[in-house]
Formats: sequence, C-alpha cells, structure tokens
Amino acid sequence: MNANLPTGDPVMNQVQTTGKPLPGPFRGQSMNCRQCHLVDDLKPLSRFYVRSYCDFANRSPIPARDGQGLETTPRNSPLLVNATLTRDVPQIFHFDGEFSTVEDLVIGTLTGPNFGWLPTVTITARIRLPVPTAVAACPTARFSWAPIRPFLLLS
Ligand code: HEC
Repeated sequence: MNANLPTGDPVMNQVQTTGKPLPGPFRGQSMNCRQCHLVDDLKPLSRFYVRSYCDFANRSPIPARDGQGLETTPRNSPLLVNATLTRDVPQIFHFDGEFSTVEDLVIGTLTGPNFGWLPTVTITARIRLPVPTAVAACPTARFSWAPIRPFLLLS
C-alpha cells in the first residue's frame, strides 16, 4: 500500500470477468471503490458492460501485499443499489455481517485488504485516514457518477 507506484497499481490494469479480462477503466491509478463496484465505466466498450455497482468476477482482485498470499476478495462484489435503505431490521453489510453501519464499512474498507492494507497495519491506516473524506467517498452514502477516488494520506 505504501509502495511508490509511478505507473499505477498493476491490479488496476484489467477488470476480471468469468471469461476474458476487460481493460481496467482506472488503469494507471490506485485502488478505489469503483474498481469493484462499477457502473457505466466500461459502457464505451459495450452497452452490455453496464453494472449496478458490482463487477464481473467471481472474486475481485485486490492489491498485492508483501507477506500475504491473498489475491482476491473472499466473495463476489454484490450490487449496491438499495443496499443502505432504511429497513425494519438492523442493517448489516457484507454477507458475513462484518459491518453494522455504512460508515464503519467505508472506514474498514479503506483501511482493509481491499485497498491493500495488511491486518497488522490497519491501525496505522486509520490514523492516516481523513474520516469525513472517507464517508463522503462512499457511493451509497451520496449518489455520484464521478469516479470515486478516496485518497489515503500516505508518506
Ligand atoms: C477489491 C474490491 C472492492 C473494493 C475496492 C471495494 N469493495 Fe465493496 N465489496 C466488495 C466485495 C467482494 C463485497 C462483498 C463482501 C462480503 O460479502 O464479504 C463488497 C461489499 C460492499 C458493500 C455491502 C453490500 C451489502 O449489501 O452488504 C458495500 C456497501 C460496499 N462494498 C461499498 C464499498 C465502498 C464504499 C468501497 C470503497 C470505500 C468499496 N466497497 C470498495 C469488493 C470491493
């Protein structure tokens, strides 16, 4: 995560599918929410490539991390439409109920494996994370078509 990437993170070069990979809409950049929760980013290639905040893979690739063999998320990236609607039962996010608020989900995601952080450095990541920015970056908290590029202040 702290590596100097003059040409961007290689994981962004492609979007994986269940077949042939597609060109990554954010190649040359670093990990962001929309790499895994796509909308119309690949529509210029085909109208069939529009997503509802999910991607095309069984498991989404994550940034490479020294000392850890994980290369993908444990599950597929789900649709996010209506994911944060108020309901009669308590809200839970991720299929294993990892988060109970969307704020925790955003902070946990920005400081977790999906963004290349090892569990051992999550506390460092949290200290460096500008929290209001993180919540504003959540695609489900505020609707926005702009590519979402949450930024971590890293040395
Ligand atoms: C590397 C891919 C990846 C990135 C980057 C990513 N996500 Fe996800 N997201 C996933 C996967 C996979 C799941 C399902 C996780 C699970 O069920 O364990 C998920 C689940 C979610 C959910 C829960 C949906 C539900 O109904 O439970 C929300 C909301 C969400 N992501 C928002 C975000 C936000 C906001 C960001 C950026 C801060 C982000 N994601 C970045 C892959 C990613």
